Amino acid sequence: RTTAVILAGGTGQRVGLSIPKQLLKIAGKAVIEHTLTTFEKADSIDDVIVLMAPGYVPDIEKIVAKAGFTKVKKVIEGGSTRNETTERAIAALGEGLAEGEDLNVLFHDAVRPLLSQRVIDDCVAALERYQAVDVAIPSADTIIVTRTHGEDGEFITEIPDRSRLRRGQTPQAFKLSTIRRAYEVASGDPNFQATDDCSVVLKYLPDVPIHVVAGDEYNMKVTQPVDVFIADKLFQLASTAAPEQKGEDVYRELLTGKTVVIFGG
Ligand code: CTP
Repeated sequence: RTTAVILAGGTGQRVGLSIPKQLLKIAGKAVIEHTLTTFEKADSIDDVIVLMAPGYVPDIEKIVAKAGFTKVKKVIEGGSTRNETTERAIAALGEGLAEGEDLNVLFHDAVRPLLSQRVIDDCVAALERYQAVDVAIPSADTIIVTRTHGEDGEFITEIPDRSRLRRGQTPQAFKLSTIRRAYEVASGDPNFQATDDCSVVLKYLPDVPIHVVAGDEYNMKVTQPVDVFIADKLFQLASTAAPEQKGEDVYRELLTGKTVVIFGG
């Protein structure tokens, strides 16, 4: 079986609203409702669990009940960091499992509501061969590495070859046994620090290859205030093209066939 874990334990400090950004309405629905709709519709996903910011679990239960999502099996509170939220998910997923039984797990940021079915399917397919899978896109920007020298500010120490750099997105997909083992090893490290789940596998299970699936430019993370407006516009465009489709093909089609939609408002 394949379970999608929706990571929604954050509060969205950088967007800076009075509610967590995953509850913000974009194109008529809460951000997380768009995300849940995508997984509900995915043939390759059997179950969904949501880890929500403390105090907001009832908001998600309401959304789930109203939309009639049948795949959402559990809504529980997340932890104080993203990795702690992942650990809670791993514990919750283990509860219903028989001895020796494994599971495919896709961890997805609740605040990436424009995820396409193609990316989900590619992740699930990749788990037939690999125990760990990341989703990434090339970087259009040059990435520089800097060091801060006191009051003089930042200086470049390195400019890595852009052709090998990728920007990590989600989902990040694993065999449950693998990601659980990675966190078990990590728990013995007093200096444990990470912001995503593939880096936990990379660091603590270095022999496990992490396969990379091509992501999608439109699979953006709502992080800064400007992202709310960009996501809203992208949803408007997607609904003009085909109500249930998202992803690069939709926008390419719009750009080449109906440029007027974009530039004419
Ligand atoms: N997340 C989580 N548990 C946490 C922190 C973050 O599940 N303790 C989730 C967020 O809800 C989000 C995803 O991880 O879906 C990506 O994190 P980010 O964009 O950094 O979200 P926030 O932590 O909410 O944002 P900010 O850092 O601006 O507060």
